[in-house]
Amino acid sequence: MKNVAIAGATGVVGTEFLKLLDARDFPIKNLKLLASARSAGKALEFRGEKIPVEELTPKSFCGVDLAFFTAGRERSREFVPHAVDAGAVVIDNSSAFRMDPEVPLVVPEINPQTAFDHKGTIANPNCSTIQMVVALNPLHKAATVKRVIVSTYQSTSGAGAKGMNELLNQTRAWANGESLDVSAFPAQIAFNLFPHVDIFLDNGYTKEEMKMVNETKKIMNAPEMAITATCVRVPVLRAHSEAVWIETEEKVTPEEARDIFNKAPGIIVRDEPENGGYPMPWDVDATFETYVGRIREDFSHPKGLAFWVVADQLNKGAALNSIQIAEILEAG
Ligand SMILES: NC(=O)c1ccc[n+]([C@@H]2O[C@H](COP(=O)([O-])OP(=O)(O)OC[C@H]3O[C@@H](n4cnc5c(N)ncnc54)[C@H](OP(=O)(O)O)[C@@H]3O)[C@@H](O)[C@H]2O)c1
Repeated sequence: MKNVAIAGATGVVGTEFLKLLDARDFPIKNLKLLASARSAGKALEFRGEKIPVEELTPKSFCGVDLAFFTAGRERSREFVPHAVDAGAVVIDNSSAFRMDPEVPLVVPEINPQTAFDHKGTIANPNCSTIQMVVALNPLHKAATVKRVIVSTYQSTSGAGAKGMNELLNQTRAWANGESLDVSAFPAQIAFNLFPHVDIFLDNGYTKEEMKMVNETKKIMNAPEMAITATCVRVPVLRAHSEAVWIETEEKVTPEEARDIFNKAPGIIVRDEPENGGYPMPWDVDATFETYVGRIREDFSHPKGLAFWVVADQLNKGAALNSIQIAEILEAG
């Protein structure tokens, strides 16, 4: 039994942590809930008990064995070292340490053993990256993926509670004939979309797009894989979707790909397009697997394959993946 802390317990991902730690019977002796000073004094329910939320400070981690961080990059940069110094193992959901060569970047379906190489901190990958690599990895093992082109359709909850609320508020305002307030996103999200997730970098890509490129190579240990991404925010509340095109060294037919996906851990194939049998964000809300559909030959390339990937990014892209990492450590 562990003393566990969640830094960022009041956020959308923090809320999923509370639900999943309970649902998965994670062994917890004491649970500490941490957030900003704004939330100090609130109470959140866990296993029938009201637990007070405390302000995250450098001293929050005394006696904590395992700390899940989900309070943003700046908080991770500032407070993760304090948690590690206090003796906790940290599983961090932010981008703060993902590309640090000393920090394992773990997706349990792909590189579970790397979790044991940690020096106090384990990074949870970017949400769009996780669902893509869960689908890419079995194909890579079977036929060596040489090139990936991906376009994402990312939900508003990917930007936290404020992102979800902005879509709901703008939709209500539009229905009432009121003007729309734009504050969480760079543009109106209701009845709109934009190819702009996270900040723009000097190379013309966004930071989200480069996370998908660099983190994929690290998780799959495939530095030579050619990857390009376009990340798009869409007016969906929860679950990210991705259109993926790949080029493999050995030809993979759609039938072979379906078989590979069916046998791979963490994947559910939903691929009967004529009956509406393709994954959609509304349908995968609050699920745990990565859903794959629209599997077809990319006839623009002799060794090309196209498919569609949808997953609940608050679960598999964040809280669930982190808890699965903790479960690997628990199992030893
Ligand atoms: N949303 C996703 O799909 C997703 C997926 C993968 C990873 N992540 C990562 O998970 C983290 C949280 O994301 P989220 O979507 O849950 O965001 P969120 O809903 O905005 O929640 C943010 C959390 O951080 C806390 N926080 C903010 N400022 C703080 C401060 N100065 N000191 C202490 N706590 C502070 C908030 O506490 P208050 O409630 O007190 O403000 C809240 O608990 C981010 O690092 C994000 O990159 C998110």
